[in-house]
Amino acid sequence: MEGVMRTTLAEEGLRLLSTGKVREIYELDSSRLLFVATDRVSAFDVVLDSPIPQKGSILTQISDFWFKLLSKEIPSLKTHLIHAGLPDALEQTLKPEVAIQVQHRSMVVKKVNVLPIESIVRGYITGSAWTSYQNDGTFVGISLPSGLKESQKLEQPIWTPSTKAEQGQHDENISAQEVARIVGEDLARQIERLSLLIYEKASAYAAKRGVIIADTKFEFGVDESTDPPSLTLIDEVLTPDSSRFWSATKYEIGRSQVSVDKQYLRDWLVETSQKGKRGVAIPKQVAKDTSNRYNEAYQMLTGDPWDAK
Ligand SMILES: Nc1ncnc2c1ncn2[C@@H]1O[C@H](COP(=O)(O)OP(=O)(O)O)[C@@H](O)[C@H]1O
Ligand SMILES: [Mg+2]
Repeated sequence: MEGVMRTTLAEEGLRLLSTGKVREIYELDSSRLLFVATDRVSAFDVVLDSPIPQKGSILTQISDFWFKLLSKEIPSLKTHLIHAGLPDALEQTLKPEVAIQVQHRSMVVKKVNVLPIESIVRGYITGSAWTSYQNDGTFVGISLPSGLKESQKLEQPIWTPSTKAEQGQHDENISAQEVARIVGEDLARQIERLSLLIYEKASAYAAKRGVIIADTKFEFGVDESTDPPSLTLIDEVLTPDSSRFWSATKYEIGRSQVSVDKQYLRDWLVETSQKGKRGVAIPKQVAKDTSNRYNEAYQMLTGDPWDAK
C-alpha cells in the first residue's frame, strides 16, 4: 500500500528497546532513543490489523511542530525532543530505501524515566466525561456545574489523570491524590500545573487556526541527567491519536462533533460491531478516509498542506 512503513530497524542492527501500540523505540546510546512511529492504529486499546497510510509520518511531524511551538511559548518547558529525523551517522549507513521509509517517522529523543500516569486535560465535555456527567453530574469525583450540554466548553479546563496501563489493559481514571501517591506530591502538582498551561497555550494557538482542542493526553518523564532531575514532556504531543480536534466552524453545542482524529475509525468499529475486537482488518477505503483525517489535522494545525512523505 502506498506510503506504508514496511521495515523494522532491528533488521538494520539497531537495538529495539520496546514496541508500543504505535511506536518502536530503539536505543541509540545511553542517553538517546530513536522514536519511530509506524502506521499502526489502535482504537479502544486494541491495535487493528491494517495500517493507516502516512499516519506515522503525520504523527511525527505534528508532534515535532508542537514541541517547537510549545518550547517557544513556555521557555521553561523541558521536552524529550532532540531533533526530528534520523541522526546523520545513521542516515548515512542505512540503505537508501530504508532511510526513505523511516526518516519522516523518526525522532531522536532523550531517554528519561517515564512516569506511569497519563495526564489528561479536558476543555470541553464529551466522550466518557459526558457519559459520566449525564449519570450523576460529576466526572472522576469532580462535580461539574448543572445544565451542561453535550460538547459544551467548560468554564475552566479540568485535569483528569489516569493510570498508564500495560499493553492490552485499559487505563483507569485516578484522583489527584492517587497521582501524588504514585509520583510524589511535588511532581503531581507540577504535572497538573504544566499540563493545564500547555493546554491553554496550545488551545489559544489552535483557536487562531479554527481548531478546537476538546481534550488531550500528555505523558511526562523525569530526566535524571540534569541536576536537579527535570520534569520532561515526552511521547507524542497534541496529535490526532492523543487528542480530540474539532473544527471551530462546524462546532455546535448539544451534539457530538465532527472530529478530525481517529473518531471516524472508532465510529466505523462501533457501526460494524467490531469495537474492542482483535484481528480487525480495515477495508481499503476506510483506511484511506482515516488517513485523510490525519492529513487534514496536519493541515488545519500547521497551515501547511501535507506533502506525502
Ligand atoms: N523519552 C522517552 N523515554 C522513554 N520512553 C518514552 C519516552 N517517550 C515516550 N516513551 C514511551 O514510549 C512509548 C511510545 O510508544 P507507543 O506506541 O505510543 O506506546 P503505547 O502503546 O504505550 O501508547 C510509550 O510507552 C511511552 O511512554
Ligand atoms: Mg502511545
